[in-house]
Amino acid sequence: MTGRRATAAALAAVVALLAAGCGGIPGSVTSVDEPGFTRELPVPPLAESRVVDGVRTFRLTAQEGTTELLPGVETRTQGYDGAYLGPTLRAERGEKVSVEVTNALDETTTVHWHGMHLPAAMDGGPHQPVEPGATWRPTWAIDQPAATLWYHPHPHGETEAQVYRGLAGLFLLDDDASRAADLPREYGVDDVPVVVQDKVLDDDGQLVLDHDGGEPGTLGGTVVTNGVAGAYQRVTTERVRLRLVNGSTARTYALGFGDRDLDLVATDGGLLDAPVRLDRVRLAPGERAEVVVVMKPGETTRLRSFEADLGGVAVPFAMGGNDAFDVLELRAADRLAPSPAPAWEPSEHAAGDALHEGDATVTRTFDLAERTINGETMDTGRIDEVAVVGTTEVWEVRNTVPMPHSFHVHDVQFRVLTVDGEAPPPELAGRKDTVYLEPRRTYRLLMRFDDYADDVRPYMYHCHMLLHEDEGMMGQLLVVEPGSTARPGPSERLAGHDGGHGHG
Ligand code: C2O
Ligand code: CU
Ligand code: CU
Repeated sequence: MTGRRATAAALAAVVALLAAGCGGIPGSVTSVDEPGFTRELPVPPLAESRVVDGVRTFRLTAQEGTTELLPGVETRTQGYDGAYLGPTLRAERGEKVSVEVTNALDETTTVHWHGMHLPAAMDGGPHQPVEPGATWRPTWAIDQPAATLWYHPHPHGETEAQVYRGLAGLFLLDDDASRAADLPREYGVDDVPVVVQDKVLDDDGQLVLDHDGGEPGTLGGTVVTNGVAGAYQRVTTERVRLRLVNGSTARTYALGFGDRDLDLVATDGGLLDAPVRLDRVRLAPGERAEVVVVMKPGETTRLRSFEADLGGVAVPFAMGGNDAFDVLELRAADRLAPSPAPAWEPSEHAAGDALHEGDATVTRTFDLAERTINGETMDTGRIDEVAVVGTTEVWEVRNTVPMPHSFHVHDVQFRVLTVDGEAPPPELAGRKDTVYLEPRRTYRLLMRFDDYADDVRPYMYHCHMLLHEDEGMMGQLLVVEPGSTARPGPSERLAGHDGGHGHG
């Protein structure tokens, strides 16, 4: 697990790519195809729900299908309630929700609610398998600020393949502050989800996971938004809010417009204190960003992924850092309805949600190497960390190798205190659950475990580059009551699966 080995892996990736013969756009190692932008962006439908005994209840069925990722090419895919991606779930802070998840695939899956604060038994990680034909019914109360969350499978060792085939969707949360904010909010009209993913298609138009290049996993030459390559969105308002989700398995994007800045208004866990003006936003796998873009009547512009500053990785072009390509076209109507500049007041809950460094009583360190965290690979029968409810903690997360990682923690939203001892840039100053780790840097993350003690079922923390995750770059965290006897180490109680779920 040395830096030299990591570099060798990256070099092997380059050699493989060169051998494969890459044309494509100048400066690009992965040849990203530039499609014509001729298809309207599909907006995932809002999921229907019914309120039963005060619980907002959704249904999702994971199923097979075929999708025209490229026009005229039928690609076998997977989705929820459809062939690709899934409906957008939406709920309010304070609501109780429940989801009936049915698995109509012929393989085991799970559904994880990424970014959600909820009990570990409802988290949908590797310990809540849903077998083929089974239905799983998690239920919990929404108790966190408005945010763009997402859901996706999390079966250990199979996450990359299932997400890659299309299993993912959005889970939007609203609260008083977000509803009172001056922000575009008409779903699909001026408030538009944009799930960005890259694919490798073989000669038959079928999805392949390409690991031959080694690091960082599959970098695809076909870039899709909401499951369509070369999409455009009609704009009818002066401002449009894009909820950007990096649903890719390995690629980190630098998203922006060549001809205008954007206002970053929210990151993974909700609204920033105030909008941040940026030319582009770097988004690693698992991260989200809400941006507001100003449009003029009649104009057309494109969201583009620029050459990404990956922060000193050994061989940036092998990591896709030299790739630049258009992602989504915006076409403004000749007349645009007015929309106000983004602005909002902090929510009335903000004080309770706030994290204070002075409250931290525990510091943990996590060293990420090539495929390990603190020298270990994932063992579903081992507890790695035990936290106590009511505790504020600092996690010192260090990327020790010259390759990128994307660090994600379940259950909580954290605050980035420092990057190598310096205050984080404004785009990392808000609520986060996933953070890109530049090589050789240390990120100090502040988080608090408020509730949901469970002596048996752990939460996960892991690299969200899905090949890394599947190959074991994940650990298990128990959150317990004070006085619990649960300790790190092998756990017989974890052996096998969490039998109480997914078989009903
Ligand atoms: Cu988005 Cu543990 O995952
Ligand atoms: Cu997660
Ligand atoms: Cu990683």
